[in-house]
Amino acid sequence: MCGIMGYVGDKETQRVLTEGLRKLEYRGYDSVGIALNDGETLQHEKSKGRLEVLEEKLEGAPLAGSIGIGHTRWATHGRPSDENSHPHLDEQSKFAVVHNGIIENYMEIKREMKEAGYSFTSETDSEVISHLFSHLYDGEMVSTIQKVVDRLEGAYALGIVSEHDPERLYAVREASPLIIGSGDGESLISSDIPALLEHTRDVYILEDGEMAILSKEGVTLMETETGKELTRDIFRVDWDMEQAEKNGYDHFMLKEIFEQPTALRKTMTGRLDQEAKRVDFEELQWSPETIQQWNKITIVACGTAYHAGLIGKHVIEELTRIPVDVEVASEFRYRRPIIDEKTLVIVVSQSGETADTLAAMRQSQRLGANVLAITNVVGSSIAREADEVILTMAGPEIAVASTKAYTTQVLSFYLLGLYLAESKQTVTEQKYKQLIESIIELPEKIEGMLEHSQGIRWYSDSIKDAKSVFFLGRGLDHAVALEGSLKLKEISYIHSEAYAAGELKHGTLALIEEGTPVIALITQDEVSEKMLGNVKEVKARGAQVLGVAEEGNLDIWEYVDETCYIPNTPSILTPLLTVIPLQLIAYYTSLALGNDVDKPRNLAKSVTVE
Ligand code: F6R
Repeated sequence: MCGIMGYVGDKETQRVLTEGLRKLEYRGYDSVGIALNDGETLQHEKSKGRLEVLEEKLEGAPLAGSIGIGHTRWATHGRPSDENSHPHLDEQSKFAVVHNGIIENYMEIKREMKEAGYSFTSETDSEVISHLFSHLYDGEMVSTIQKVVDRLEGAYALGIVSEHDPERLYAVREASPLIIGSGDGESLISSDIPALLEHTRDVYILEDGEMAILSKEGVTLMETETGKELTRDIFRVDWDMEQAEKNGYDHFMLKEIFEQPTALRKTMTGRLDQEAKRVDFEELQWSPETIQQWNKITIVACGTAYHAGLIGKHVIEELTRIPVDVEVASEFRYRRPIIDEKTLVIVVSQSGETADTLAAMRQSQRLGANVLAITNVVGSSIAREADEVILTMAGPEIAVASTKAYTTQVLSFYLLGLYLAESKQTVTEQKYKQLIESIIELPEKIEGMLEHSQGIRWYSDSIKDAKSVFFLGRGLDHAVALEGSLKLKEISYIHSEAYAAGELKHGTLALIEEGTPVIALITQDEVSEKMLGNVKEVKARGAQVLGVAEEGNLDIWEYVDETCYIPNTPSILTPLLTVIPLQLIAYYTSLALGNDVDKPRNLAKSVTVE
C-alpha cells in the first residue's frame, strides 16, 4: 500500500501535494516525498519519516511549479530510508514516478537495466519504473507509458511527470486503486477520495488497464494497451469533508468509536423497516430460487473484517441452518477451496482494496460462486467486481484500528441472516420480530455505554504495564474476544491472546500467573456456567479477572475481581455491545502508553499488497 497524490493547476502545487498526502497518511507513513516540474526541470525532495520531516526540509527550500506528484510510503521492498522513498527519478532526472503496489518481476528488470548501464540508488521494486521510462522513451509519452507497463508484472498505480512534457501529468492503474479528480482549471490524482475533496467532488475511478492524461484543461481517459479514448460519467462525491476530519476528538479512533451509533443507524436505513419490522435489501438481486440453491456459505476476509465474519458464521448458521465456513483470505486464495455455483461467498472488507480479499473474491468467481461483498467504500475494486454488494454506511474510517467499520459489518450480518432466514423460512415470525426490535434498540444502548466511556479508563491504566493480557470467551464471546485482543495488540503493542475458554487447559493455562490480566466475556446464556468454571481455573492460578457481562448478572461477582456491564439484549446480539468496552480499553491503553493511536507502528490502513 502507499498513498499517491498528483496535481496540475494554478494553486500552490507543493501545498496541494503535502495537504493531500496528510489525508493519505493512513495508507502508510514511513517515508514521504514530492516532485514538481517548474516548467524547465524536475525538482524533488523526499525523506524517511513522517510528512512533518519533509515539510521541515521544504520550509528552507520550497519547490515551485504548477505540476507535481507526491507519495507517502509503507515499506514493502526495502526498509524505510531516504533513498527508498518515492518519487523515483531516472539518472538524468527527466522522469519522476510514484508507485503504489508491487512489481513482481522487478529483479529481472533490474538485472537487465544494470546490464544496460543504469545504476540504482534504492532497494525498491519501484525504481525500475523510472529507469524503464528513460530507457524506452521514444519522444512521445503515451507510447512510452505503453512500452513501460508492457514490461511490468504485478500491481501498480502510477503517477508520472516528465521534463519532456511539463504541461501534463500521467496516471496508470493495474490492480491498485487510483482516483482522478477533475476540477475547475485543475486536475488531480489520488489513491483515495478524501484527499481530493478540498479541490473537487467530481471524480473518475480509474479501472485496471486504464491510464489518464491530466492537464489544467481537463482529463483524458484511455485504455492503456490500445490508447483508445474512453468516455465515462463523472462520479459526484456527496460526502461531507467534515466526516473525514477529527471533529473535536483527540484521535480519529475515538471519534470513530463514538460514531458507531450513527453508523449503525445509517447501515439500517433503507434495509430495516422499523414500522413493519422487516428486513429488505433492495440492492440484492437474488431470487428465492437462487437463495434456495445454496448449500454452503463461505466468508472470506482479513483481520478485523475476518472477526466480523466469525460473528456472521454464528448468526447465519443459527438463523438459516446453512453451513458457513470462515476463512482468512491469504490462506483461502492459495488453497484449492471447495467452492462451486451452489456456494455463496461473502467477502468482507472495509477498504474494498485488500489484495488478498480481492484475489479470494476473483478466485471464487472463477469457480462459479456468487460473491456478495460487504464493504465500506463505494467504487472500491471489491465493490465494483462483486456480484452483489452490501455497503456499510460507516463513512470514511481513518484510524488504522478499525472500529465503526467492524460494527457495521457485524450489523450487516445480522440483517443478512434475517433476510436469508425469512426467504428460507427457517425462523419463526416471533423470533424474527423480536430480533428486529432488539436490533433497532442497539444504537441507543451503545450511546448509553459511550456516555460512560471514561469509566473504563482506570482499567487501561491497570494493564498498561502488563506483559500479556488474555481475552476469554465461548461461542460469540470468543469471536469478540479475538477482536478485543487484536485491537489491544495493534495499538498498545502489549502481547495478548484470545482463547476459546474451554481450550485453556489444553496448553495456554500454563501462561497464567500471579497478576496476569484476563478479560472474560460472559454473555452467552447457554454456556455461562461453563465460562464461570473457566474463570475459576484462571483465578486459581492468580489471574486478575475483569468480567464483561449483562446488567443484572450479579452471580459473576463471586468469580471475578472487577466487572464491566453491558445493557441487556438477546445473546445473539451481544457482540455489538461487548466490543465497545474492548475498543475503549485498547484506546485508553495506547493513550496511557503514549503511542500514536491512529497510526500504530508497522501497520497501515489499506493493505493492497499480499
Ligand atoms: C485492524 C484492521 C485490519 C483490517 C484488515 C482488513 O483494526 O483494521 O485488521 O481489518 O487489514 O482490511 P479491510 O477490511 O479493508 O479489507
